[in-house]
Amino acid sequence: MQIGPHLLPNRLFVAPMAGVTDRPFRQLCRRMGAGYAVSEMVTSRKDLWSSLKTSRRANHDGEAGPIAVQIAGTDAAMMAEATQYNIDRGAQIIDINMGCPAKKVCNKWAGSALMQDEPLALQIIEAVVEAAAPHGVPVTLKMRTGWCETEKNALRLALAAQGAGVAMVTVHGRTREQGYKGSAEYATIAAVKAALQIPVVANGDIDSPQKAQQVLAETGADAVMIGRAAQGRPWIFAEMAHFLATGETLPAPTVLQARDWLIEHLHDHYSLYGELTGMRTARKHIGWAVVDLPGGEDFRQAMNRLESSAAQVQALGAWFDELAAQYERLPYLAKRQEDSTMTAHDNEEELRLQA
Ligand SMILES: Cc1cc2nc3c(=O)[nH]c(=O)nc-3n(C[C@H](O)[C@H](O)[C@H](O)COP(=O)(O)O)c2cc1C
Repeated sequence: MQIGPHLLPNRLFVAPMAGVTDRPFRQLCRRMGAGYAVSEMVTSRKDLWSSLKTSRRANHDGEAGPIAVQIAGTDAAMMAEATQYNIDRGAQIIDINMGCPAKKVCNKWAGSALMQDEPLALQIIEAVVEAAAPHGVPVTLKMRTGWCETEKNALRLALAAQGAGVAMVTVHGRTREQGYKGSAEYATIAAVKAALQIPVVANGDIDSPQKAQQVLAETGADAVMIGRAAQGRPWIFAEMAHFLATGETLPAPTVLQARDWLIEHLHDHYSLYGELTGMRTARKHIGWAVVDLPGGEDFRQAMNRLESSAAQVQALGAWFDELAAQYERLPYLAKRQEDSTMTAHDNEEELRLQA
């Protein structure tokens, strides 16, 4: 699996998720077997580049390459400038966001809404490719299957993007209209894959090693991209890699191993965000890690009332130690519910887009 000149160790990618896939989480996923990770989207609005939020998003300290930065916007010239800006700050791959059902950027619809305006979408793609090409930086595109059920134009747009010099296309198997409702469909992704010469990545509802194998087979895609299923469960990449390589299911991590990984992640998280923001934004990561485990929901609620990072680490450690007294390996209760309040809440974060 290769993106331009960058050879990747495998075909299991972490999906960009605003408010989730910051540098510490990307590094954790990579350690746990993900072959590639894209940053959360960075706005093309210059006036926001110096904001704390955007500068945290541009933090790649110690991150293994290739450094992939996703940009979002609605104006070709601004997107070209954002390309140059991020390349100057270390981006080795630029990903264009035409996939998220986010609200407005600069009073215009961005993300997957761009799929409704193909000429503008193509103008943006061409401008970004032109800005990246002199640096030898490949440009990739993330999109949905289309605007709505009757306007599934992923194939047409993907072909146009390939013609404009895009190096890889990722398709989330839902329309913009669907948001996160319903199920991802893979036939459109298969059609895109069959028509393109560049690598195609399948995304949407891939939440187990078996599902990863099924989607790879059904779409013929070169790679799969995993978003929500990696929240609180970054070892899913190792589980998928093992299953794809051997056909066997890897046992869940031991409780103590998971405890140590999570605590390491928390420390990394606090060091990026500082005490107050770090403590607050860590809550969702802790919640995702425990919610599918026995007693996890009660712990999550109690943990949300703690007001310092030290108290969070202490409580998480103690809770996992107690769990370890009863179980050697993580005793997952059931498959995560997609419409759980946690997921709904966290998707709101994406909808708030950039600030
Ligand atoms: C909390 C959250 C934030 C997201 N942020 C982004 C983003 O910044 N850019 C993007 O292209 N997609 C974003 N997405 C969409 C995901 O990358 C992915 O396409 C989608 O979640 C479907 O994959 P999944 O079923 O594996 O989660 C986000 C999704 C979630 C749940």
